[in-house]
Amino acid sequence: MESVNLQSSLQTDVQTQAEMTQSSGRHDRNQDIGLGRGVYVSTYGCQMNVNDTERMYSLLEMANFTPVKTPEEAELIIINACSIREKPVHKVYSEVGRYRKLREKNPGLKIGVGGCVGQQEKENLIKNQPLIDFVFGTDNIDSLPNLVSQVFTDKAKVIQTKFEHRAPYHVETLVRNPGVSTFVNIAKGCDNFCTFCIVPYTRGREKSRPMSHVLMDVRNLVNRGVKEVSLLGQNVNSYHSEDGADFADLLKKVATDTGVERIRYTTSHPKDFNEKLMHVMADHQDKICEYVHLPFQSGNTEILKRMNRGYSREEYIAKINQMKKIIPNLVLSTDIIVGFPGETEEAFQDTMSLVEEIGFETIYAFMYSPRPFTKAAQFTDQIEEKVKNERLNRLFDHQDKIAFEIVKRYQDQTLNVLVESINEQGKAQGRSTQNKLVYFMGTADLIGKTVPVRITQPFPSVLRGELQQ
Ligand code: 5AD
Ligand code: SF4
Repeated sequence: MESVNLQSSLQTDVQTQAEMTQSSGRHDRNQDIGLGRGVYVSTYGCQMNVNDTERMYSLLEMANFTPVKTPEEAELIIINACSIREKPVHKVYSEVGRYRKLREKNPGLKIGVGGCVGQQEKENLIKNQPLIDFVFGTDNIDSLPNLVSQVFTDKAKVIQTKFEHRAPYHVETLVRNPGVSTFVNIAKGCDNFCTFCIVPYTRGREKSRPMSHVLMDVRNLVNRGVKEVSLLGQNVNSYHSEDGADFADLLKKVATDTGVERIRYTTSHPKDFNEKLMHVMADHQDKICEYVHLPFQSGNTEILKRMNRGYSREEYIAKINQMKKIIPNLVLSTDIIVGFPGETEEAFQDTMSLVEEIGFETIYAFMYSPRPFTKAAQFTDQIEEKVKNERLNRLFDHQDKIAFEIVKRYQDQTLNVLVESINEQGKAQGRSTQNKLVYFMGTADLIGKTVPVRITQPFPSVLRGELQQ
């Protein structure tokens, strides 16, 4: 019975999407392109990439490909790779290299590369690694079935990496089996051009989905059993619907007009986080989690200027203090880059002291890595790898001590936990509204329910507790 319901609601989504995309003429849906062939998508990167992979699987399944669990079972392999840090292109080449044996066994096997690496490298990928049959960019996911059809029928190499600058951003959420919690894209791209960041080049110009589409999407997901949505965008605070609604308006509407139980969002930019948004969060705390991820990147104002972040250390602190006043029990996390060009030991100490002053529960910290096309890659005062590495370790040690103290406050607190899964030993896993992972002993009927859990052992990365009856 349940699968019939899922099937029919997927069908509804498909029809909606078909209507939405007809005008842009991007692709035909539900053609038998796959003939049941197995498809495997290998993913690395952020939530946006994970979400894109789910979209690829959904579209390909509609075109009669069969998602499989290993590359060995596949006749179509796609690598969806992020390029924000490190050396993603090398990773892609070595992964494709590992598929040589599979190709020898099955000459019909097709291999494609998509996502940010596809967007960044374009035809170079095929020139450097002839095992690759096709390359597509971040704006071409909806054309994937057509593109793959061409690869299978024409047996020619295909490259499609054009940004659809003029097409409106109409992409309803496609998820095959939505769980308790699901991501919903609300905007894509970024116009901020932080000098270290490749995103404006790999994801293109910023575009928002119409508010009515997002609301319809969330309602559909709620009908399919979803309890929590995470609204996703590179910079959600810049969201602007064609009817004039901003992110605060959208968040409020999702809270009041969709029936969803819980809402999260990511990522926000400090310069655009306004008081209106703080009040919406405070006024709808029954639905909107009191958790904000607000990357500060560096605690030194000179470095922030060179990063083109649009705020100073003092402005960041002032914003956080205002948020703490307006949003009760606010919980914060952040992103930090160490070893940005020109970062002196004193500048790094400003980052260390800011981490302490604000008191983040979690930090995501990275060594600066020069990225193609970006301004900072041209700066002449690059920092040695050894120094970056040593600073990163010091920062993590510092944060470990801070977080250990902060999470002590959870001892004996009862938190509302939305249960996501349970293993065979009865260990249930869920998240609190503070975005904390919580483990406790429970039963399978609790999945999808929000239950009170008293915390007995708080650790920085996970809280252990007991279910309260
Ligand atoms: N080097 C290191 N970290 C980076 N980030 C973005 N670009 C780079 C880079 N070139 C980090 C930022 C951003 C997070 C998603 O990745 O902290 O917020
Ligand atoms: Fe990159 Fe800056 Fe845009 Fe974030 S705001 S995606 S760091 S350019």
